[in-house]
Amino acid sequence: MDAASPWWRSAVIYQVYVRSYQDSNGDGVGDLTGVTQRLDYLSALGVDAVWLTPFYPSPNADFGYDVSDYCGVAPEYGTLADWDELVREAKARGIRLLVDLVLNHTSDQHPWFTEARSLRQSPKRDWYVWKDGRPGGEPPTNWASVFGGPAWTRDDATGQWYYHAFLPQQPDLNWHHPAVRQAMHDVARFWLQRGASGFRLDATAFLFEDPGYPQDPEIATNAEVRPINPLKPYNAGRPENHTVLRELRQVLDAHGPDTVLLGESATDTLDELVAAYGERDDEIQLPMNFLFARHWQRDAIGLKRLVDEAQAALRGKTPVSFFSNHDHWRQWSAFGDGVHNDQIAKLTAALVLAQRGTALVYYGEEIGMGDLPVAELAAAPLGPHRPRADHRDRARTPMQWSSAPQAGFSTGTPWLPRPRHIGHHHVEAQRADPDSLYHWYRALLALRKREPALREGEHVPLHSGHADVLAFGRRSEDGAGAVVVLNFSSEPQRVALGGWPGAPLVFSQTLLASPAAVEPEAPTFEIAPFGIWMGQVAH
Ligand code: GLC
Ligand code: CA
Repeated sequence: MDAASPWWRSAVIYQVYVRSYQDSNGDGVGDLTGVTQRLDYLSALGVDAVWLTPFYPSPNADFGYDVSDYCGVAPEYGTLADWDELVREAKARGIRLLVDLVLNHTSDQHPWFTEARSLRQSPKRDWYVWKDGRPGGEPPTNWASVFGGPAWTRDDATGQWYYHAFLPQQPDLNWHHPAVRQAMHDVARFWLQRGASGFRLDATAFLFEDPGYPQDPEIATNAEVRPINPLKPYNAGRPENHTVLRELRQVLDAHGPDTVLLGESATDTLDELVAAYGERDDEIQLPMNFLFARHWQRDAIGLKRLVDEAQAALRGKTPVSFFSNHDHWRQWSAFGDGVHNDQIAKLTAALVLAQRGTALVYYGEEIGMGDLPVAELAAAPLGPHRPRADHRDRARTPMQWSSAPQAGFSTGTPWLPRPRHIGHHHVEAQRADPDSLYHWYRALLALRKREPALREGEHVPLHSGHADVLAFGRRSEDGAGAVVVLNFSSEPQRVALGGWPGAPLVFSQTLLASPAAVEPEAPTFEIAPFGIWMGQVAH
């Protein structure tokens, strides 16, 4: 790798939902030691870094996204010593760790909030957002929270209302307060000093509210019909966010050049996404591209437009591509047609992993894990380890290591069941089959590292000659090139590639193809149903 290029510019970051990855002590809940036990698996897959979802002490109103202690490990996930061990073992394998940092809100059980709510005069009062209600016992504004219901909760002790963009158990911090910023910087330093290489920043769009607290003229009260993360001008994407992110970046830069911020920078437009990097590239290095990630349709034209536009707008920056995470549908289910899901999953994997920039892989994506079917999710029991039903649990089922009833995840009763029918979608079967999705991911990850054009080459928009075929190229400074051709239809298609700059397009070899194929002699060739062809350009 180019010595001047930081590791994260073309990295694959694997997201581990800690609760569901590997349970090391049989209590049915995944834990840090479980992750350590699976590092060899991650190393063989070829990932560069792991983003761990929150493992802080938490009342679990939102599984760790309601933090009650930012510098600790919840007993169900282990201890700080387990974290240290994970750091050591990951480092020994060249894998970096990113901690999920929840900036926007704490748990209502965090000592800061307990103190803040006790008295209007409490020194911590202004660490959160308090307002008087409107006459008639109405909340200060009519805003809805992201999860539905009012964004304000009245606190009986003092008669005021506190603001929460998410659950009532997740009171928003007041980021205007210098002490809040200081406290969160200390948290960041704590984990950096303890071996984290950076952070995945939670819900960064929501840090500030319009100081005028306007009423929402078009509030939709039905949570079912609202989009995920309804970004509103009064409480999302406020300009003040940039100051917080810039300061946090300075904390990281002061620690060392190898650290990185991966942001859940939900944005509605490409301009906002560009802005998330900072005017001088001095904020989040890796803001996730949700414009792409939410396009869950087998629609080559729409996907191509999103890819080409983002790649053009983010020239010189690092695009972050993915489809699945713990809040979304799993891509195997979202894109699958019910018949060719495995082949389609190879297609979406290639689309994400062959693009310039950094890619996120959500645990189990590489073995074709699907969502928990609706009926099975509805029947999944609640209990001490699953206090609340959440529709997002469909994509949080235990990692499928084997075909055992507990999927090799636990020797006890998993906190959430695995889907009843997993077929060959478990690590044992996937490893044994050279044509599996797992081996496809391994090959793609290896290719990204090996092939200069795929590692650092510029994005080259190509036209494919067919509406259902998405094609693009990659071209590095020394002229090395690669093309990626993806057939999003269930029919074989005739491809006529155009748009490659300079000399006529001639291929020197096939880099990766599914189904297996040899390099075509000309840029006009036939591609199989849901076929993928990636080739090296002769120069
Ligand atoms: C982010 C997380 C999500 C969580 C929310 C509130 O969107 O990804 O899981 O519920 O923030 O913290
Ligand atoms: Ca456990």
